[in-house]
Amino acid sequence: MSGDSGHEWAPPGVDPEQPSVARLHDALLGGMENFASDRSVARRLKDTVPEVVDLVWCNRAFVGRVADFLVREAGIRQIIDLGSGLPTVENTHEVAQFADPRCKVLYVDIDPMVEPHARAILNGNAYADAITADARDVDAVLGHPSLTRLIDLSQPTAILAIGLLHLLSDQDDPHGLIRRYLAAVPPGSYLAASNFLSSASPKAKALEVLLQATMGTGYFRERAAITAYFDGMKLVEPGVVHFPEWRPDDRIPGPLAPWEELLLGGVARKP
Ligand SMILES: C[S@@+](CC[C@H](N)C(=O)[O-])C[C@H]1O[C@@H](n2cnc3c(N)ncnc32)[C@H](O)[C@@H]1O
Repeated sequence: MSGDSGHEWAPPGVDPEQPSVARLHDALLGGMENFASDRSVARRLKDTVPEVVDLVWCNRAFVGRVADFLVREAGIRQIIDLGSGLPTVENTHEVAQFADPRCKVLYVDIDPMVEPHARAILNGNAYADAITADARDVDAVLGHPSLTRLIDLSQPTAILAIGLLHLLSDQDDPHGLIRRYLAAVPPGSYLAASNFLSSASPKAKALEVLLQATMGTGYFRERAAITAYFDGMKLVEPGVVHFPEWRPDDRIPGPLAPWEELLLGGVARKP
């Protein structure tokens, strides 16, 4: 699939000429499941904000620490990963099932490339599955036969919305969507969410403008709007913070680099 030859194979329903967020993310992570159109946007992003590659790796590390926390410390055994992205390193099911092989993980992504690639690496894993669905269609996601087969919504469930909500406009009502997912799961369930942080920093502005221009999406939000994703829930320490500050593995966080200030995320428990 990689290679800039111009003769790229794409699965049905995928237009290689049109960059996609999932493939752009994969290109930035150095993956192979992307096309020339995605790599072209990746190059423009890197030219404008060279640290964008560190940013996506920092994001992956956050996903991993969150999955590990949910299973080992919060006792969660079911995870719905909305906007999961193309499989890469430290995928949610790998981290979660390393902690408990019976932890169930359902990947949900709107990009039709994700499901076949996820299925390929899941390779018959009875405790994980992937579906192609628009996370904005809550009923379609929660009523999907693959979800109802794997996930028991009467049991505590973690909803992951990491790297997704800044792709949804205010018209999409990301706060309302989150409320609807949380209404479908019992007390003791968890939400993990993130969003690009709106700021006056030139790097934030440059990234937002370029994402809008190239991908037609990218909604940076104020801290209060990001914190509001967790309204009515009990935030897990240290709260809604920049990713490197959320339960770092092995280092005492020093001063943040400017690019590390571009994203905020947190985890909270439904009381
Ligand atoms: C930046 S990637 C994040 C991947 C992963 N969650 C992470 O944080 O590393 C965002 C993913 O959200 C997916 N996405 C965008 N809009 C979506 C929607 N409405 N429903 C489901 N997935 C969506 C994209 O296809 C992409 O794979």
